[in-house]
This record gives sequence, C-alpha cells and structure tokens, in this order.
Amino acid sequence: MISKQVLDLEPQFIAWRRELHAVPELSFQEVQTTEFLLKHLRSIPGLTIEQPTKTGVVAVLRGAHPGRTIALRADIDALPIQEETDLPFASKTPGVMHACGHDGHAAMQLAAAQILAGEREQLHGEVRFLFQHAEELPPGGAVEMVKAGVMEGVSEVYGMHLSSNFPTGTFGVRAGALTSATDRFDIEVIGKGGHSAFPETCVDPVVTAAQIITALQTIVSRRVRAVEPAVAVCMVQGGQAYNIIPGEVTLTGSTRTFDRETRRTLPQTMENIVRGICEAAGASYTFRFSQGYASVINDAALTQAARQTIQTTFGEQAVLEIEPLMPGEDFSAFQENCPGFFVELGARNEANGCTFPHHNSRYLMDEAALKYGVEYLCQLVRSRLGEA
Ligand code: NI
Repeated sequence: MISKQVLDLEPQFIAWRRELHAVPELSFQEVQTTEFLLKHLRSIPGLTIEQPTKTGVVAVLRGAHPGRTIALRADIDALPIQEETDLPFASKTPGVMHACGHDGHAAMQLAAAQILAGEREQLHGEVRFLFQHAEELPPGGAVEMVKAGVMEGVSEVYGMHLSSNFPTGTFGVRAGALTSATDRFDIEVIGKGGHSAFPETCVDPVVTAAQIITALQTIVSRRVRAVEPAVAVCMVQGGQAYNIIPGEVTLTGSTRTFDRETRRTLPQTMENIVRGICEAAGASYTFRFSQGYASVINDAALTQAARQTIQTTFGEQAVLEIEPLMPGEDFSAFQENCPGFFVELGARNEANGCTFPHHNSRYLMDEAALKYGVEYLCQLVRSRLGEA
C-alpha cells in the first residue's frame, strides 16, 4: 500500500520530475539540475548538504540514534537525443532529453529525503542520499563520487531504475549479476592499399577485417558458456573509393559479459584471433580494449531484505523475479566498496502509451510509478535503520 504521506506528496514529486524533464543536461554538465536539487534539499530541515563533485549532490541525514550508514543512489543526467514527444513539459534543450528516466529517479529520491528527514527521531544510523551525475557516459560519475569519499563508512548501498519493461506497481528483483559489464574494443587492421585491379600488389585489410568479424562471433558460440553473451562489432570503417583497396580498416565494438572470469580473459581471446588472422593475411594490427562499467552484482542478503520490504509493502504480486539485463550501469562502482542492491521499478503502462524503450526519442514515463518508488525507498530505510 502507498501511504497517505507519499500520496499527499505525489503532486509535488511529479512536478519536480516535470521541471527536471524540461531542462535535461548531459553527463558531467548537470549544473542547473544540481542547482535545482540544492535549492530543494536546503529547504528540508535536518539534512546536511555536501558537494563532493563538480555536479551531483550528497544529502546526509543523521538519525537520532547511533547505527550503521546506508546510501541511496539516484542518477540525474540526460542523453544526447532530440525529444520527439508532445509533452507540455518536453525538453527545452535541442538535442538533449531525459530519455532514460533519471529525472524521475532524482524526483523520487528528493521526495524520500523530505519524508525521511521528518523521521530523524526514529532512525538508527545515517542515510546518505547520493544524487549522482554522469551515469550515461563512461568513466561515469559513480567512480568520481567514490573517489571523493562518499562511500566512507557506508555499509549498504541501494539503487533503483525505472523500467518500461515491467508494469507499473511491480519491482524487478534479482540476486547476483543484474547488469552486464560493458567494455569497448578498437581494432585497426593495417594492410597495404592499392588499385583494385592489382590485388596481388596489396594486402587487403577489408577481406582480413571481414574474417576477423566472423571469427569474433565464434567467441560467442564456441568460446564462452552458451548463456554468456560477449562480442558485437558495431562500427566498420575503411576505404574511400570504389576501385581502391584501402590501407587500413578499423573495427570498433562492445563486449558484454556477466561473468568476471569471462570479462578478464576476453581481451586476450580476442587479440589471439586478430593476431592469427592478420598473420595469415600478411597484415598487421593494433588492438585496444577499454574497460567500461562492471556488472551490477546484487548481494544475496540485501536482495532478500529488499524483496521482503516490497512484499510486505505492496503484496507478493509486486515482486517479479527477473533475468539479467544487458545494459550497463555504473552503480557497480559503489558496490566495489560494500554490498549493494539495485532494483528495477516497473513503469510500463499500455493504457497510457508508456511502452517505449529507454534511450528512445519517444520514451514516456508512467508517472504513476513514482509513488511506488518513493514508498519503497522510505520503507527500505525504515526497515534497515529502524533499530540498532
Ligand atoms: Ni538509465
């Protein structure tokens, strides 16, 4: 059940969400968003506000009684997408859109901070509300916040993401690996260019690159466990004329893994394939592998505790046991420091057309989902810090 307190505040947090939606800002540039959050957080008695990073905010709520420290994290950045909705509060910034729902994340966490600040007397320990910048752009804002010390003394961290995959009123829950590790590779195949009429004088990097693309797919089918996804080549660049064999071709793509060991060994496996094919063709190569976000791994005990909170608050039907998700999420950076739990908050609603995927120019959020998120955050904190 949603409490009266949350329902009373609902018009307010929906308004906050709309206000943020109209002024989306790209990763690492969330200046107005940070100002907006500061303005509201400062008006809430009992919070201590900190700005450990250039954008992003941390609000600290110290309960009246001693206890452990937990952190809640909401991301606040938007995407380089031209909004194509006809919402009255659509983005005013050309080419930038809150197309992933982070405006909703910020509004929900702001509401939870306001409600929980009124319950200081009952809380044992400390809540750190992390409003994190730059989730969408590696290396990401989470790692910056961690470096700035926001996780010092924190023993549990919680995150939440709205999702148009699951219906409003539900929570997608999973223990263990929730999101994939997302890394990037860049391969340059260097051959010898020349006239297409005289291939014998050339080392054709196009044909070599084509073999590499095909061979890399065998990593997925033959080298890793069948349930482990791995490699996608997404950019192929080379050549300038229809009758000239180019000197080089570049291949760029991403790898997505859940298993830490697969992630660790994948670059070497890939480079071995590239080296072998280039050698056979008489070509040379460069290979670069850049680590992106690690996998979000939900702690088993915290998952169980959160599941219990959701069931008690909203009923058993509210919990959906979900499969791992392919998109990356830099919440994992906080989990390097302590156990964490990340939940998917259902916000899909066929009745009002809120079915578009995230990162889509027509993405619509079912605002009715926000009250579930606010209630969940409040109940979670009460259950974790209700007693010493
Ligand atoms: Ni997102």
